[in-house]
Amino acid sequence: MPALTQSAPAPSTTAIAPPMTTGTAAAATPSVLASQDRTAALEQAIAQDPHSFRMLTGDRPTGALHLGHYFGSQLNRVRLQNAGVELLVLIADYQAITDRTAAEDLPDIVIGLVADYLAIGIDPERATIFAHSQVEALNQLLLPFLSLVSVAEIGRNPTVKDEIAATGSPTVSGLMFSYPVHQAADILFCRANLVPVGKDQLPHIELTRTIARRFNERYCPEAPYFPEPDGLLSSAPLLLGTDGRKMSKSRNNSVPLRATPDETARLVSRAKTDSERQISYEPERRPEVSNLVLLTALCRDTTPEAVAAEIGNGGAAALKMAAIEAINDRISGLRARRAALAADPGYLRSVLAAGNQRASAIAARTLTTVRELMHQRY
Ligand code: TRP
Repeated sequence: MPALTQSAPAPSTTAIAPPMTTGTAAAATPSVLASQDRTAALEQAIAQDPHSFRMLTGDRPTGALHLGHYFGSQLNRVRLQNAGVELLVLIADYQAITDRTAAEDLPDIVIGLVADYLAIGIDPERATIFAHSQVEALNQLLLPFLSLVSVAEIGRNPTVKDEIAATGSPTVSGLMFSYPVHQAADILFCRANLVPVGKDQLPHIELTRTIARRFNERYCPEAPYFPEPDGLLSSAPLLLGTDGRKMSKSRNNSVPLRATPDETARLVSRAKTDSERQISYEPERRPEVSNLVLLTALCRDTTPEAVAAEIGNGGAAALKMAAIEAINDRISGLRARRAALAADPGYLRSVLAAGNQRASAIAARTLTTVRELMHQRY
């Protein structure tokens, strides 16, 4: 799993390569830079008063979580939860059908995600884990929200443009086109004020803020009802897959968290490297080797430079061995917890059912207020 870049160029970690993305969404635009400043300020505010934040985060259920998710977003969630921020974790099973048809294995994927979350350290007593298809009042917010944005505005969304291009299809479904508005409902139904995201999601946060603001201006200017949520950029590096491209389940280049030690060894040993014997950490020049170095460093809680120095001229074989050992050491406890959880799907379903219920209660209250504010009470 070569070459690591980072999902958000954190000001503090200058050694990591800039993001390598093909699309326009993740470029270092003024809004990305502003979000980085904002993120630093937010981290301070969180440290001072974690209880004033409600954080909503979500994943599309497209497969098992992998090491890229773990270091990229999941650890950050657990950190914020443990710091005292209220956490809602959304499984975006409607959004999953923007670019694929819902698969028969969706229930297994969703329940598997719940197992991943709990094994990683999300605490079902404190956090609300739910699937948005199961929260009816949340989905109903989509209608008033759609009325607050123009077709042209949605059409300019760079992340949606990239995703449409990635499908390679000449037709675009209405859901693909409008899912960022649905995402605003995901965030605003619980009036979350904090959304940890990668850069590609910033346009969606911006749209959510616009919708919140316009709703307030139109229906309750005296007492704004919806907060304008902040995106919290993760400073974690983005792991590349074993082929040097972005790690992703669909590209078949990821190391899933639930992989066994043997599977991990197999996946890492086939990772792309280069022919230079001296191992170094040069993400721009040697993305694949640097990715393995960084992965090893992340697993060991050390710096990539230290790992590179230690391996020295041991070559790619020694690097891969170090990476395999570091991964297996780092996540053996997580795997054991996950295996125990997976053996009890009834429990996992009950965690999700409880989360769905909690989210539904929140959404119902929000929808009631929204209807009142919109004079739809007869
Ligand atoms: N769009 C996100 C993704 O592709 C998933 C998602 C759906 C989400 N709803 C959300 C993320 C609300 C944050 C908040 O990964």
